Amino acid sequence: MSGEHNWNKAVKTLITKEGNTHCADCRSPDPEWASSTLGVFLCVNCSGIHRNLSEISKVKSLTMDNWDEEQYKFLDSHGNRAAKEMYEANVPPYYYRPTHADCHVLKEQWIHSKYKHKQFVKESNFCDISNGVKVGNLLKRGRDNGQYLHRKFILSDLDGTLKYFTKADAKEPKALIKVDSLNATFQPEKMKQVNGLQITYVKDNKTRNLFVYHSDGQEIVRWFNAIRSAQFHYMKLAFPTATNKEVLICLTRHFLKEGYMEKTGPKPGDSFKKRWFTLDNRRLMYFKDPLDAFAKGEVFIGYSEDGYTASADLVPSTYGNCTWKYGISIGTPDRIYIFTCESECERESWLNVFQKVMSQPMTLRDYTVEAIFRRRS
Ligand SMILES: *[C@@H]1O[C@H](CO)[C@@H](O)[C@H](O)[C@H]1NC(C)=O
Ligand SMILES: *[C@@H]1O[C@H](CO)[C@@H](O)[C@H](O)[C@H]1NC(C)=O
Ligand SMILES: *[C@@H]1O[C@H](CO)[C@@H](O)[C@H](O)[C@H]1NC(C)=O
Ligand SMILES: *[C@@H]1O[C@H](CO)[C@@H](O)[C@H](O)[C@H]1NC(C)=O
Ligand SMILES: *[C@@H]1O[C@H](CO)[C@@H](O)[C@H](O)[C@H]1NC(C)=O
Ligand SMILES: [Zn+2]
Repeated sequence: MSGEHNWNKAVKTLITKEGNTHCADCRSPDPEWASSTLGVFLCVNCSGIHRNLSEISKVKSLTMDNWDEEQYKFLDSHGNRAAKEMYEANVPPYYYRPTHADCHVLKEQWIHSKYKHKQFVKESNFCDISNGVKVGNLLKRGRDNGQYLHRKFILSDLDGTLKYFTKADAKEPKALIKVDSLNATFQPEKMKQVNGLQITYVKDNKTRNLFVYHSDGQEIVRWFNAIRSAQFHYMKLAFPTATNKEVLICLTRHFLKEGYMEKTGPKPGDSFKKRWFTLDNRRLMYFKDPLDAFAKGEVFIGYSEDGYTASADLVPSTYGNCTWKYGISIGTPDRIYIFTCESECERESWLNVFQKVMSQPMTLRDYTVEAIFRRRS
């Protein structure tokens, strides 16, 4: 030991430097790994993805591995901030940057795009949707039989539409979706498909779900970002004075919460049925099967000052035969809805999101949607 510097200890002190306090790729706090060849600090999950890029990234633990002087100096002179300036110099504004909460394929492709394909370095002119159009095949889940079949999709930046065709040579699309009315969300768990993407859009005032995937992770993430690109350009044309930031929050977004609850009908004694619920902003939809194309019903979750309430409910026995006992009652100006959850923890989690949504004042657009719901009921 005599006279020898402790480089392991020195390396650990580098994570307090600006930029190094969070993972270089997913921004999760307190990185415990680093790439000795790229000079970045990483969380354990991203370090696993880097390990698969062994030709360009050598990952080592900050706590368990040995570091030498040369590696210390490299990390010290590089680090997350410098890497970001280099590898993220040219990330298009619409491009989705995953966080630690995102699914594996998004994180993996972000890391591959950054370091392996160097897609976002200054000299790169990569584009997810070249000449304003993206054409390709995706496997789409059949509405009635649940079978995944190849379908041709065409995304157009210029028209702001996504179309799909049941036959490669068909003239008329099976569906024509305006990009400003659709949302795309990765759903690997629900679809039991690592590259599974859910696309939702509103058709005849009702939400329609499409479930698609591509066997190649790179290709499905390209579709996802191409959709965001088309949405971004469409919105910029429609609202020329809007800032990038204002447009970006309107692009594809995550559902606030999904999961099973039981629900009962409006009459006392109506039986309880287990349903899959999806809360998309103010739209609470319920499905018989999580992968159904259409919701069996939708409930609008409005603003508390307009008469919307959410509370824990004891579920009196008169409510029929629920198997789950943790009740929630949602009050709307028209009706009270009773749901039951499997556990106290699930109930808390649903109540939290309902109350959060209800605490937010509505936009003019929200009032328009509310009016459509109330006319329907
Ligand atoms: C590494 O690559 C293999 C083979 O492609 C894959 O199965 C695995 O999930 C990858 N691991 C990570 C952490 O990305
Ligand atoms: C790594 O992934 C697991 C499983 O998805 C997650 O529970 C954990 O929080 C992640 N860790 C970090 C540091 O992001
Ligand atoms: C998709 O998101 C946008 C903006 O966040 C929203 O206005 C729209 O209603 C959503 N579309 C669907 C089908 O839920
Ligand atoms: C959708 O709602 C709008 C506004 O209330 C209404 O004018 C239109 O007829 C509805 N469309 C369908 C197919 O129900
Ligand atoms: C109890 O619930 C089941 C379905 O969940 C239903 O088929 C049955 O009719 C219900 N029974 C009563 C007495 O409500
Ligand atoms: Zn990370």
